[in-house]
Amino acid sequence: MRSHYCGELNETHLDQELDLCGWVHRRRDHGGVIFIDLRDREGLVQVVFDPDRQDAFKLAESVRSEYVLKVHGKVRPRPVGTVNPNMSTGAVEVLAFELEVLNKSETPPFPVESEIEVNEETRLRYRYIDLRRPLMQQRMRMRRDITRHLRSFLDKEGFYEIETPILTKATPEGARDYLVPSRTHQNAFFALPQSPQLYKQLLMISGMDRYYQVVRCFRDEDLRADRQPEFTQLDIETSFMNEDQIMNLMEEMIRNLFHDILHEPLPNPFPRLTHAEAIRRFASDKPDLRIPLELVDVADVLKSVDFKVFAGPANDPEGRVVALKLSGGCELTRKQIDELTQFVGVYGAKGLAYVKVNDIAAGIEGLQSPILKFLPEAAVAVILERTDAKTGDLIFFGADKARIVNEAMGALRVKLGHDFGLVERGWKPLWITDFPMFEWDDKTNRWFAIHHPFTAPNCSREELLANPGQALSRAYDMVLNGTELGGGSIRIHSTELQSTVFDLLGIGEEEANRKFGFLLTALKYGAPPHGGLAFGMDRLVMLMTGAASIREVMAFPKTQSAWCPLFDTPSPVTDLQLRELGIKLRKPPMGQEEGGESI
Ligand code: AMO
Ligand code: AMP
Repeated sequence: MRSHYCGELNETHLDQELDLCGWVHRRRDHGGVIFIDLRDREGLVQVVFDPDRQDAFKLAESVRSEYVLKVHGKVRPRPVGTVNPNMSTGAVEVLAFELEVLNKSETPPFPVESEIEVNEETRLRYRYIDLRRPLMQQRMRMRRDITRHLRSFLDKEGFYEIETPILTKATPEGARDYLVPSRTHQNAFFALPQSPQLYKQLLMISGMDRYYQVVRCFRDEDLRADRQPEFTQLDIETSFMNEDQIMNLMEEMIRNLFHDILHEPLPNPFPRLTHAEAIRRFASDKPDLRIPLELVDVADVLKSVDFKVFAGPANDPEGRVVALKLSGGCELTRKQIDELTQFVGVYGAKGLAYVKVNDIAAGIEGLQSPILKFLPEAAVAVILERTDAKTGDLIFFGADKARIVNEAMGALRVKLGHDFGLVERGWKPLWITDFPMFEWDDKTNRWFAIHHPFTAPNCSREELLANPGQALSRAYDMVLNGTELGGGSIRIHSTELQSTVFDLLGIGEEEANRKFGFLLTALKYGAPPHGGLAFGMDRLVMLMTGAASIREVMAFPKTQSAWCPLFDTPSPVTDLQLRELGIKLRKPPMGQEEGGESI
């Protein structure tokens, strides 16, 4: 029906007769002439209807926003003074000869303009209109470009794209599973994959050598700006490569991507930080290196001070006491400090002690703080020196169990960076390596795998057994501007070591065989050393488009409560369907409950 896209027209098309199809973005009547901005995926072009051509003109008078039109016309230069340098088609316009209305439209629930703020539920309910907005079209195009680029890199490097099942068995990635009841096997369920982890390991045992997949993953977990219940991974696995080789290849892929798509340089190589160092300096395993603030440990000088808030954690093996200097922070008001104290309170911090450095040359006299009276001068001097404090600076303190200090002070560091305009421009990728294998959970009294239970330790089986809490893993995460973009590891490829790890995780032999027997068996049949990682595609596209959440770069995302306003799902099913599945509900379906919520 069309010969050209609206958005591709420019001066090279002058004097050509052509056919355009698109939506009415805007109509303006100007003293006997009608202008319609016609929009398609590629952009807008101005179409002019002249009263000389009566039929087309009359019809043009009747069209409204979002009508679908076909226009036959001729490209001509815009008159001098009406050229629009902000539009790629701004030097030309199309004089319409014929007009056909292909379809009408009701007044849309919101204007198809990128700039207009619309409530998210409305946007998602009418997502097909929201996606018409130029900004959303741009994001979808960028997503297409990114996926295509990554596929092409991996294809050139000899990776096979192989599909793995969606109806499968639980893979432990730390979230709840989405379950699918089976009609043919009553009382039994499939799980949707949290990741294709075990399939890709089996593919390595199959000798596929290099695998990737752009794959949907499903996790029933608490949602945030960078988490959705279903999301896309670029999932990768290789055989016979060690962690350095995998990290080098993967950062080359990401560097090329940023170079080719955004024309932005990324460092070569990416910096690497051990997990311990990242926690020590930034209190985070995904530090935003654009923020030039660092934590400084000061427990050693506060062990014997007469101030329990500090001395307690300073003497507790699980405690931590840190200082965080904000240059020029002396100007903070009492109210601002109170607000920051409340902010860290959300992470469990019981307070936020501080010292203002009004005049560094004046010694203790030049300082101002409610806790100064508790601190010996020598300790204060060491803290000032370690934080390299200058006149005008403010030093915050966090003291508690390390877990609370890290969460609170890590978040405070990021907040101060944003609130005080300290976030540097550009891209700061890095690798985090040497994660601990396990984390102890006090509630359930057992070890948890920090990555997943298939990750290889960085020590022998004997050392692992002797001291699981100290063992490090061969896992690595790629972090970009404070977002965990991807993560992976070298895997265990021996049945014995895999069984040992299950054992340490409190997964007994019977349970291990029931859940992972197929893996333990497969590992016995010539499993090669292998490893890989998975990138969060939605997060990558979010960062590269500058979008505020991954919902902005997914065509049909769910809301924060894992609900789809467009299809209104999840939704009740019929009794017959339930009966066929052998399922009886414990409660009436959603919305039919007495006083129940139908979200
Ligand atoms: P992991 O669980 O770290 O590793 O996931 C890999 C990457 O997937 C992205 N991601 C998410 N994105 C959006 N919404 C979510 N709910 C969500 N959860 C995770 C993140 C994360 O870095 N099988 C392993 C990988 C491996 O070991 O090879 C895995 O899934 O960007
Ligand atoms: P308090 O003795 O509780 O009145 O606290 C004295 C000062 O120490 C106040 O400025 C508190 O904000 C601060 N403070 C209290 N608990 C902590 C903590 N766990 N970490 C850092 N500062 C704290």
